[in-house]
Amino acid sequence: MFYNRFFRKNKKNTENTKQRINNVKKHQVPAHVAIIMDGNGRWAKKRSLPRVAGHHEGMKVVRKITVLANEIGLKTLTLYAFSTENWKRPKSEVDFIMKLPEEFLNIYLPELKEKNVRVQMIGDKTNIPKHTLQAVEKAMNDTKDNDGLILNFALNYGSRAEIISAVKNVVKDVKDGIISENDINDELFSQYLMTKHLTEPDLLIRTSGEIRLSNFMLWQLAYTEFWFTKELWPDFNEEHFLQAIEQYQNRSRRYGGI
Ligand code: FPP
Repeated sequence: MFYNRFFRKNKKNTENTKQRINNVKKHQVPAHVAIIMDGNGRWAKKRSLPRVAGHHEGMKVVRKITVLANEIGLKTLTLYAFSTENWKRPKSEVDFIMKLPEEFLNIYLPELKEKNVRVQMIGDKTNIPKHTLQAVEKAMNDTKDNDGLILNFALNYGSRAEIISAVKNVVKDVKDGIISENDINDELFSQYLMTKHLTEPDLLIRTSGEIRLSNFMLWQLAYTEFWFTKELWPDFNEEHFLQAIEQYQNRSRRYGGI
């Protein structure tokens, strides 16, 4: 009896989700969605589990949302996986998070390849452990010819550091006569950022109820639509993602015009 009801309810949910996906696809989907995946630690604490259990659960959500983003036709999904400030955390937690890309790719890379997903990353590669970087670079190389969704991990990423590095390179190119001071404008400056090959995010999602940017894509988010939810990242699911996309589709983007 209970099982029958459970399966009927689940079947209904799946049908609802399918219908919502079809509806979302009928309207303009954002080309680039960026997500600040927050709340893993709180999710674990609520269950009296170690913080890292939340990160591990969060990894499974990465797979779920990636598959859906690809299915509805996003071009890019950028996920803030580790910031330049996250090194302040206990070493054991940092070590755990740095193992997640490998574990994720060990499990899901075949599926990502099969689904035409291309893996990329932004961030400062210098301090990332070798084993982490090797796993990500292998995935990038293995998927370089895919032209479906770009799954872009922001790993050891900090927006201020990115902007400062861009400014230094602009100054150098002016000094070297490669560009002139008069050439500097939004478009040219964007070409000095780690996201030069990507469009700017259309939609930013942050989970866990925090309403801040935490040094994430400060330049790139200038005209992005924001969507915040109280859901903790490990609890974030397809329904929430579709809700964010649906809200985005109902917004009017004016870029400063009327
Ligand atoms: C923020 O939550 C989350 C992180 C710093 C790590 C995010 C990493 C994942 C979701 C897994 C990434 C998976 C792959 C495949 C790279 P928090 O720890 O700050 O949570 P809290 O605010 O509740 O403490």
